[in-house]
Amino acid sequence: MVQEYRQAFDQATNDPAAFWLQAARGISWDTEPQIALDDQRKPLYDWFPDGKLNLSVNALDRHVDAGRGGNTALIYDSAMLGTVTKYTYSELLREVEIFAGVLAGRGVKTGDRVLIYLPMIPQAAIAMLACARLGAIHSVVFGGFAPKELAARITDCAPVAIVTASGGIEPSRHIEYLPAVAEALSLAEPAVKDVIVAHRDGFAHSLQEYQDKEINGQQINWLDWEEQTKTATPTGPVPVDSTHPLYVLYTSGTTGSPKGVVRDTGGYATALQYSMNAVYDVHPGDTMFTASDVGWVVGHSYIVYAPLIAGATTVLYEGKPIGTPDAGVFGRIIADHKVTTMFTAPTALRAVRKADPEGALIASHDLSSLRALFVAGERLDPDTYHFASKLLGIPVVDNWWQTETGWPIASNPLGLEELPAKAGSPTTPVPGFDVQIRDALGEQLEANQEGNIVVKLPLPPGALTTLWGNDQRFIDTYLSQIEGCYLTGDSGFLDDDGYLFVMGRTDDVINVSGHRLSTGAMEQVLASHPAVAECAVIGLADALKGQRASGYVVLKSGVETDEAELKKEIVALVRQHIGAVADFREVTVVAALPKTRSGKILRKTMRQIADGKDYTVPSTIEDTAVLDELLPLLRPQA
Ligand code: COA
Ligand code: AMP
Repeated sequence: MVQEYRQAFDQATNDPAAFWLQAARGISWDTEPQIALDDQRKPLYDWFPDGKLNLSVNALDRHVDAGRGGNTALIYDSAMLGTVTKYTYSELLREVEIFAGVLAGRGVKTGDRVLIYLPMIPQAAIAMLACARLGAIHSVVFGGFAPKELAARITDCAPVAIVTASGGIEPSRHIEYLPAVAEALSLAEPAVKDVIVAHRDGFAHSLQEYQDKEINGQQINWLDWEEQTKTATPTGPVPVDSTHPLYVLYTSGTTGSPKGVVRDTGGYATALQYSMNAVYDVHPGDTMFTASDVGWVVGHSYIVYAPLIAGATTVLYEGKPIGTPDAGVFGRIIADHKVTTMFTAPTALRAVRKADPEGALIASHDLSSLRALFVAGERLDPDTYHFASKLLGIPVVDNWWQTETGWPIASNPLGLEELPAKAGSPTTPVPGFDVQIRDALGEQLEANQEGNIVVKLPLPPGALTTLWGNDQRFIDTYLSQIEGCYLTGDSGFLDDDGYLFVMGRTDDVINVSGHRLSTGAMEQVLASHPAVAECAVIGLADALKGQRASGYVVLKSGVETDEAELKKEIVALVRQHIGAVADFREVTVVAALPKTRSGKILRKTMRQIADGKDYTVPSTIEDTAVLDELLPLLRPQA
């Protein structure tokens, strides 16, 4: 048997420079790189330092030039509107050239930041690619975040323009974006000059309301997307250095301040093209349907950039896995668009299974085009894996990765060879990621021993190069704990066959419906309530959403309050500060929180108790009576 995977993995590990220079040939360069890796700033690394390219050329022009301009590039399928709109490569290129012209006409230059706050509509992909065309750095913010989170991102990356829309459509309501943008601008320290608005029917607020209002003493231009495109001059691509940032994508860490993951241009393009060959096995003529959101890394990589770089068709889906109109919608999309490769989150599959236990609604559609289902964002539990495998009868591939890495660290490499699957494991490390398991002191652990999952430096192309404006935070957060390694923040083990098992986070990051959230950020909000003396937020196992956030508050002494009212206020506060996406609904008032003698709240012990797991009480606990009192609240049946 040809062991293509083993060969590729060994090459990438033993001679990364040769391996990645070869992979870089899959990309169209203005200046082809001769140097693979620049390690002069160790522990920071730059891939292809002498290369120059433009990403929109790789995603669009090169396919048109190769005679594939008539192929479908993007299918916008909106279950919310009941519409389907298709763009060929030539049409999408035209839209991108024009919108790049709009931005350039407003003075946006290479290196400027542009914040994109858009729902799942084609303008999101167009705006991202238009920024890439100019070498402007985009930062896309998920629509479920509240104005305060938006403001934090505006302050951090100082965009000169914001591209937004009238709003997003959720099954239960319309989400008005314009008041959120206006509020965020009033809370931030903005350098924003222009807000460009894609109009959608059916929303209460229009840009005219904001046009003449000053925000923080500043006049901001509120402009209509459609109007602007009428007079714009289509703009050609600006070649940028391979190391030039393509985007900043904020993600949750342990603190309240989100981390701006910086992605380069050439390394990312190379890695995505490689992943389409080696992992996803997607090529021109194939159709990829990634049911995520452009606000997340999965959306950046596998809704927008990778399928287009590969010359395939991408489906941009506005809707949910269930209820729009039913749990068969994924099947309908596969059949309608002859999807060959699908990607979704385990939560979506669990939601389908809950609504339709046998998956009969999906199975009622013609699924014959589908070759593989990829799943990521949170652990794929064995039950859900078996459900999907039985329903579809094709490989169901768990892939493990993070906003930081930009593409999978571990996956079954279907494009190289299909390895036997093991339920509960994302299979083996992808070529380029030298995954090791280390203990807290940095010692390498043996097979089957659980520890910190780390990746030996250098990270492969495509992974983050730093945090926006903060090399030191990047080094302190990821590169300092274990010498020569990138700390993933996940724990797990490698089994005797080299399969990786990811067991969960080692920090205060939780994953709710595949959405990454910080319990630390939620604690900051709870602590800001005037009645709260101290608090803890922990992630509890949830049968549908993987995890859910649960808050515990100790009241200030002497505070008399109606508990039900207090809980309502706290839930509303989290929604107001972080957003609906936090999905924060549970608050329990407790007399005290269990702590170590040095004052550290025993969140892990609380989580283990609440999840019904075996737990050990640290010998450093301050007062065991506190835990005894908490037990019936954390685990009512105990
Ligand atoms: N803009 C604004 N609000 C949003 C939003 C968006 N893009 N996405 C979600 N929200 C809101 C929802 O409306 C909801 O608000 P509500 O509390 O007022 O009802 C809240 O955030 C929580 O939403 P969600 O997590 O989607 O839960 P749900 O119960 O509405 O739906 C599922 C459950 C399983 C259908 C849904 O979570 C889902 O589709 N999950 C898959 C997620 C996914 O693909 N993640 C990919 C990451 S790779
Ligand atoms: P995000 O940055 O939003 O992609 O979230 C990354 C985190 O989600 C990882 O560090 C993991 O904790 C978790 N995660 C993502 N995919 C998987 C997976 N396939 N298996 C287990 N955990 C996952």
